[in-house]
Amino acid sequence: MSVKSFPPRARAVLLTGATGFLGKVVLADLVRHREVLGLSAIYVLIRPKKGRTAAERFNEQLLTSEAFREFEPGWHRDVVAVPGDVARPLLGLEADMLARLKRELTHIVHCAASVDFNLPLKEALQANVRSTLEVQSLAEQCQSLPHLLSVSTAYVQPHREGVLQQTLQPLPEGTGGAEALLAAIDAGQLDEAQALALCGHPNTYTFTKCLAEHLLLARRARVPVTLLRPSIISVAQQFPHPGWIDSSAALAGFVLCLAAGYLRVVSGDRRAQLDVVPVDQVASMIRQHAFDVAPEAGSAIVHAVAGRPRNLPLDRFAELAVEYFKRHPQQRSVQLKAFDRHTRWRELQHWWYHLLPLRLAGRWARLTRNPIVGRQAARLEKVLESVFRSFQYFTHRTYQFELSPHAAFDMPRDQYIRLVCEGTRRHLLHKLQPQAARSAPGGVPAHRVANSVSSSDDASR
Ligand SMILES: NC(=O)c1ccc[n+]([C@@H]2O[C@H](COP(=O)([O-])OP(=O)(O)OC[C@H]3O[C@@H](n4cnc5c(N)ncnc54)[C@H](OP(=O)(O)O)[C@@H]3O)[C@@H](O)[C@H]2O)c1
Repeated sequence: MSVKSFPPRARAVLLTGATGFLGKVVLADLVRHREVLGLSAIYVLIRPKKGRTAAERFNEQLLTSEAFREFEPGWHRDVVAVPGDVARPLLGLEADMLARLKRELTHIVHCAASVDFNLPLKEALQANVRSTLEVQSLAEQCQSLPHLLSVSTAYVQPHREGVLQQTLQPLPEGTGGAEALLAAIDAGQLDEAQALALCGHPNTYTFTKCLAEHLLLARRARVPVTLLRPSIISVAQQFPHPGWIDSSAALAGFVLCLAAGYLRVVSGDRRAQLDVVPVDQVASMIRQHAFDVAPEAGSAIVHAVAGRPRNLPLDRFAELAVEYFKRHPQQRSVQLKAFDRHTRWRELQHWWYHLLPLRLAGRWARLTRNPIVGRQAARLEKVLESVFRSFQYFTHRTYQFELSPHAAFDMPRDQYIRLVCEGTRRHLLHKLQPQAARSAPGGVPAHRVANSVSSSDDASR
């Protein structure tokens, strides 16, 4: 990748999280608009991983991604892969690159995070809080940065009735504020369960994203901050292609397990509604708020959500998804045996339909000395356990988010649900099928689903 110096007043942006689902679309969107934005350079911070350098990961994960398939060859000429790790001091940048970024950057879009719901608190703090503060520290040291945009989540606010506003939600009384909470956790005075209970959060992901918001705004010195809060991000409405998705976390993990015939029991209130927003809408709002809309009074909080009129009712979602995957059957038929609020009976059904068959398969694998099948059964059990349990907080509640005036999601609900199913089938389910089975109807083996579906999520991730 070519590295060149830019005239001092050209715009240059640093994007974190570009190898992720949202990050890819943000990068594609920035590349598409680079002339109108006056961008001379797009720096993408990528951590070296599994023996692959940042440049190798850029080539393998971004250049080959379907998200960029319509772009002209050489589209990445102004994109620079920067080795770094947001969880390390000053993003683990090499001295030369650090000096160059401080000199050249005019914008930072911070997307990187761990969206794992179940990460132990200390790891989640590192991934979502300290990392964000390191990005802010870099921003504050840049010579000409008008403001920093950091991606948060709409679920930083524990559920309550009424409209959740685009404001920083005060932490409950008795917590002493975000700095005190962080210090108490660091000092071992507050463990994970206590911290979640005190602040009313269902998991370490929403809690740490909430803490990151508070600390970012509290520690802001010179550089204004925009916090952009998406709800549940799913398939693209239009860009890079209708239905495009490459993450099997969140809603997609749920749809994937259902489509592959493994998810048979759902614990949720059938009347609950999910706020699901297309990834391209979020990317477009990120661009607008990073480049066009200056935050007033030093900070802004913006919801990138579908909003109440476009929320997806859970029972309608399940009905259309089952109908869709019956029309596009896989090896195991789609069967939703039970779907209602959480009760002991639901637990029993979960055990009967999900866990028992896999435990029997595990036993059989041990008897026949087949460790591969044993491992697959164990992994799939973990995935179903997570899909069944991690979503419960969100499948029993309807969040009503205040809509930003910049939100422009206008697809009818049923049409978007079908697009979610279509996109999941084309871009995720399809990839799971072994080459030989692609031409045959069905054929999604358990281990491929288990390996693909992440136990993480954002509000149903
Ligand atoms: N997906 C949703 O439904 C949703 C909803 C609301 C908000 N959000 C927010 O949107 C943002 C993007 O989410 P996503 O769904 O795109 O997640 P994702 O697909 O899991 O991507 C996460 C990205 O963060 C990067 N990252 C994580 N830790 C890093 C580190 N220490 N150093 C450098 N990079 C690191 C990952 O890089 P590697 O490839 O190296 O792992 C990856 O590029 C996050 O801030 C998330 O909280 C997501």
